[in-house]
Amino acid sequence: MNMNQVIEFIKSDRLKEKPDLESLGFGKHFTDHMFILDYNKVQGWHSPRIVPFEPLVLSPSAMVFHYGQAIFEGLKAYKTNDGRTLLFRPDKNIERLNRSCERMCIPPIDPDLVLEAIVRLVEVERDWIPNKEGTSLYIRPFIIATEPYLGVRPASEYKFMIILSPVGAYYSGRQLVPVKIYVEDEYVRAVPGGVGHVKTSGNYAASLYAQKKAEELGYDQVLWLDGKENKYVEEVGSMNIFFKINGEVYTPKLNGSILSGITRDSVIQLVKDWGVPVHEERIAIEDIFNAYKNGELEEVFGTGTAAVISPVGELKWNEHKMLLNNSETGEFSKKLYETITNIQYGKAEDKFGWTKEV
Ligand code: COI
Repeated sequence: MNMNQVIEFIKSDRLKEKPDLESLGFGKHFTDHMFILDYNKVQGWHSPRIVPFEPLVLSPSAMVFHYGQAIFEGLKAYKTNDGRTLLFRPDKNIERLNRSCERMCIPPIDPDLVLEAIVRLVEVERDWIPNKEGTSLYIRPFIIATEPYLGVRPASEYKFMIILSPVGAYYSGRQLVPVKIYVEDEYVRAVPGGVGHVKTSGNYAASLYAQKKAEELGYDQVLWLDGKENKYVEEVGSMNIFFKINGEVYTPKLNGSILSGITRDSVIQLVKDWGVPVHEERIAIEDIFNAYKNGELEEVFGTGTAAVISPVGELKWNEHKMLLNNSETGEFSKKLYETITNIQYGKAEDKFGWTKEV
């Protein structure tokens, strides 16, 4: 791997109109440029470049179309009130990208080059970072297997790309509005020894059927149980999950089938810093229901880059409906949302050193 690769820049001569900040939604608009890095066995990862955002030309036999060798990441750039641009813990995303590479037999990428690519692309697209409250520039790095071949084995050619999307809230355009969650006890997302702990595209494809079912029943998202016994809480798919019970915080421990969320890790550190006990452990859904029945389940919330802190207003498990905090945003979820977004938007002291100025 050549550590000193120069990123070429080809400027687009057709700049797009920026979208209306009031109706950004999530992942609908894309900026003028994208980053590309190619891999082959002879040159390794090579030819880093920022080029106009445009469709790709790939062979219909590119391996990603057939066997799904693909991984991705998600992080955000935030505009501060005084006009600075901040990234939030990009080193963690880059570490996880390379962990996903390893599990999916994709050659790792020099972390310094990935960071430089993110920083340069965000600099080029600085004007695309929205500055309305609750908005940001979502950064989507991803890798696909491009080798034209139909045998099942790791590809020998790949593309690493980064695209950017100005976004608002992930769920129905509103931040901090409680979501309704359906506890899925028939279909599973991941199994021990599988790939649930890495950010590979197939995990998301596998979640769609149950997600569709949940939506038909009037729910926003699915809460997955473990793939072996269908008993223990795992994650929501677009976020990790937390429970506040009797003043203490519980979240499923990373067991090899749960994604290690960066917001999850940040929340754990913040809550510990506040002196509130945090337990990372195996959590049976039945115990959550019992805590609910006993009046001890105070709040439930999800955490994720896209979802930020997302309060849960209702959990449906079999015939049981758990209405949480009168389906309103709880104080604890609100405080976490404010603390974490204040750090991300440079409004509060960053005592953990999480932000990186671009
Ligand atoms: C993120 O939070 O960045 C994610 O990757 C979740 C995604 C499914 C929107």
